[in-house]
Amino acid sequence: MNVSGHKIELWRQLQAVASVVLAIRSGLSGTAALNDVPIELRPGVQALTFLVLRSFGRAQALQELLAKRAPPPRTQALLLTALALLCPQSGAPYEAFTLVNQAVLAAKRSEVTRAQAGFINGCLRRFLREREGLMAMSGKNLVALWNRPLWWIRLLMNEQPHGWQAILREGNGRPPMTLRVNARKGTVPGYVAALMRAGLESIAVGQSGVILRQPCPVQELPGFAEGLVSVQDAAAQLAAPLLLRELSAASRPRILDACAAPGGKTAHLLEISDAAVTALDIDARRCGRISENLRRLGLDAEVMVADAAETSTWWDGRLFDAILLDAPCSGSGVVRRHPDIAWLRRESDMAQFVATQTRLLNALWPLLKPKGKLLYCTCSIFRTEGENQIQTFLAHNTGARILPSPGHLMPQGGTNPEPVRDNSTDDHDGFYFALLEKCAA
Ligand SMILES: C[S@@+](CC[C@H](N)C(=O)[O-])C[C@H]1O[C@@H](n2cnc3c(N)ncnc32)[C@H](O)[C@@H]1O
Repeated sequence: MNVSGHKIELWRQLQAVASVVLAIRSGLSGTAALNDVPIELRPGVQALTFLVLRSFGRAQALQELLAKRAPPPRTQALLLTALALLCPQSGAPYEAFTLVNQAVLAAKRSEVTRAQAGFINGCLRRFLREREGLMAMSGKNLVALWNRPLWWIRLLMNEQPHGWQAILREGNGRPPMTLRVNARKGTVPGYVAALMRAGLESIAVGQSGVILRQPCPVQELPGFAEGLVSVQDAAAQLAAPLLLRELSAASRPRILDACAAPGGKTAHLLEISDAAVTALDIDARRCGRISENLRRLGLDAEVMVADAAETSTWWDGRLFDAILLDAPCSGSGVVRRHPDIAWLRRESDMAQFVATQTRLLNALWPLLKPKGKLLYCTCSIFRTEGENQIQTFLAHNTGARILPSPGHLMPQGGTNPEPVRDNSTDDHDGFYFALLEKCAA
């Protein structure tokens, strides 16, 4: 169904999902690719795309078994879409025969794939006939088993020889919708009660968080437009209190949020302190979202568009009491929320991310007062972007010391009977936190 209640044919949705998959494979983010889908198709296509991406590794392995040579890109995207949805674990709400018929129809109804409709039909019907054998055979393939590119699995095996399976399993889970209550406008118990009155069940998590039993559109949340709550994962909610914990409450600290957009952590800092915050981001469009979010929440910060590492272009020379560096990273800790990330990243991106993180750390450290605190964080499960990055920094900066910090938090679902080792018990994304202090001069 679309918003006006008209039924949208499955073949049209499959065509659109295949286009999104193709766009992601060529480097466009899932969000950007979905923005190109006609609005009436978007909700259904988004839901199906997420199912496809969560079984994409399996679909690739199946396609290799079914077709000797890779078909042309659009045909391949449609075939992979159908195979992913046909996988027993995909959760697609369609009968297998319906999916096959509609995928073949999708191929026939497009000029680009029409000539390949017979090929798609042949592959999918063979899959239906030989499903058990093909699933067993593809199950020997690591990419199929874990739904991640091989380089990603190998890197994680290397970094986490004892925990890589649990980390990947959790990363394939379904994330909850977690909210942060704006402490300037309410309390967690008060908001849990407001949700209950609205018929929405929830539980409190951490200092300011609430996890909804069932996700819902933000417009349905009590007081969302009035700034009572924001959507933010429980691990991301650790950043602001961690940085503020070590600051003197007596004075009004000056804090730099160096990679701030869309402003989740900036807003949290302002909700629970009287700090003067400068929120910087390199992306002008995303800076607009910081301002929008702060306006909704009734908060205020100085928002600047700049490359944080090019300090000569934006810094006024006054040292900061604290810096939050929520650095750009692989996003490997938030794959359960953004399953496109797994298929968007290339192995070569990792060196680029690590270099940018190093550049930002080195450029921002001199902007900190003696005894000042810098919180470095990334939403990554990889040590290269977390612990290793900070160990290298400490080895080169004898004037820096690490304070007690959470370190690597791996993604974890609340109901997992086998929790990830050494993790906290909440349901949260993967993150890394290191709180650094500058030694007195
Ligand atoms: C992980 S996101 C930040 C999320 C944000 N802290 C929040 O809590 O909502 C990383 C941000 O870094 C920004 N960024 C990347 N390179 C940058 C640079 N050199 N200077 C400033 N911002 C940068 C990106 O535009 C992106 O918005």
